[in-house]
Amino acid sequence: MTAAGADLSIEAISAAVAEPMRALEAALMREMTPDIPQAADLGVYLNAHPGKRLRPLCALLAGGACGADPNGEGQIQLACAVELLHTATLLHDDVVDDAGLRRGVATANAIWSNAHSVLLGDYLYSRAFFMMAQIGDISLFELFSRATHRIASGELHQLLNVNNSTLGEDEYRSIVRKKTGELFAASCTGGALIARADAETRRRLGDYGMAIGEAFQIIDDLLDYVGDADKTGKNIGADLREGKFTLPLIRALQQGGDALEKLLLDGLRLRQSTQQQDGGGDDSGHLRAVIEAVHSTDALEYTQNAARRLAEEAVGHLAPLPGGIHKDALQRLAQFAVMRDF
Ligand code: IPE
Ligand code: IPE
Ligand code: MG
Ligand code: MG
Repeated sequence: MTAAGADLSIEAISAAVAEPMRALEAALMREMTPDIPQAADLGVYLNAHPGKRLRPLCALLAGGACGADPNGEGQIQLACAVELLHTATLLHDDVVDDAGLRRGVATANAIWSNAHSVLLGDYLYSRAFFMMAQIGDISLFELFSRATHRIASGELHQLLNVNNSTLGEDEYRSIVRKKTGELFAASCTGGALIARADAETRRRLGDYGMAIGEAFQIIDDLLDYVGDADKTGKNIGADLREGKFTLPLIRALQQGGDALEKLLLDGLRLRQSTQQQDGGGDDSGHLRAVIEAVHSTDALEYTQNAARRLAEEAVGHLAPLPGGIHKDALQRLAQFAVMRDF
């Protein structure tokens, strides 16, 4: 992929677009502050706990790789809109998942209420589309309308498969591409669109984004089994607790034979009945048994390898693009997506 020993920190990868990334922060500070004085604390909360900014980074690097002026107004507006969309999906996702921890702090739904998170998410969504409209390129609007529609479809698809122990890898991957791949893909394609890249280059960058997005989510699902909450800033084991069958569990169920399947399914059933009986009692023993069972198979290695292959595929899509600092950073970003532990 890239040279061994390359610096895979986000700071190093962002260096090629350091200036527009700073402009992005100023724009986000403004856009994430609701226009109602009583809602100021919501804006303070969002601005005080920024995420990794990976999707705007993709947009700016993709634009840069296509020769755009990354400090151009359109690029920064796009980067900002993309991060607003991402933040909106997280606010909604944490309600759907009943999540209590994100970015190392209590979620907005835990601090305020589900209603606050839903409405703040809607606020950011609508601001994002307003910004897209200001850029004034109808294809960009179409691109992100389709992407947000597919994200919603992915989240719904996932919800309808909660506790479905027969969910297979292909269907899981289709969910992942929709709920996470689409926004990475649209961010990259959007950067290329603003740079007025040709259709083939736009497609390549979109395919790159889709592949790293899928890899990124697969690693996220792996970290739910092997991660450290102090680093990820999210509760470990949350997917299992929510009845989400992600790749580590899907693979363990396929590989572990009947005994493991029984242990996994009994554990999950017990977990469900414990939750139903006392409205969310202590199911940690059952969860631990399932996690240990997953660890005893090749599922974790299998999951990691699946993500690695996608990162390699992502880098392959970039091959015909001319070399330079932006392409180099995109290559390193693909590696980061699968090497990360946060
Ligand atoms: C979290 O995305 C949601 C997933 C797709 C796994 P990020 O890990 O990029 O979230 P932040 O913005 O950095 O918190
Ligand atoms: C990603 O799914 C959420 C979206 C793409 C909207 P997850 O539910 O796995 O993400 P986390 O773990 O809550 O960040
Ligand atoms: Mg979630
Ligand atoms: Mg997750």
